[in-house]
Amino acid sequence: MATNRTFTMIKPDAVEGGHIGAILEQINGAGFRIVAMKYTKLSAEKAGEFYAVHAERPFYGELVEFMSRGPIVAAILEKDNAVADFRTLIGATNPSEAAEGTIRARFAKSIGENAVHGSDSDENAAIEGSFHFAATEMF
Ligand code: CMP
Repeated sequence: MATNRTFTMIKPDAVEGGHIGAILEQINGAGFRIVAMKYTKLSAEKAGEFYAVHAERPFYGELVEFMSRGPIVAAILEKDNAVADFRTLIGATNPSEAAEGTIRARFAKSIGENAVHGSDSDENAAIEGSFHFAATEMF
């Protein structure tokens, strides 16, 4: 069943590249409404907690280091069918496989430094949104 919120982060590589504005413009242009947003930086501990599901993967250490090396933009987005539509908008995890015009095709550097995060299910969207935002920060 489709619900209407997803969670995203503009990752350190895209922030470093100066792409916050272009990415937000593409997100808005695709019809997503911003429910919550903050410019913040994850500690290594917080990044490790956020990606705990990947703790056994060989790239976990690299992922935690990457996600805590600089600021990110975290946001909750709203739209019909938000989770699936946002994953279409950002493209495949590996930018070499991402469809032309998608956010990752435009801005991602590699499978690890892939510009943006998008939740993979409604359940994870709710968990990830609550990880970053209090209910009083959602509008
Ligand atoms: P995302 O899908 O947002 O969340 C999990 C992240 O792990 C993914 O983006 C990438 O940043 C990272 N990741 C996934 N696969 C690999 C890989 N093979 N090597 C390095 N990092 C990866």
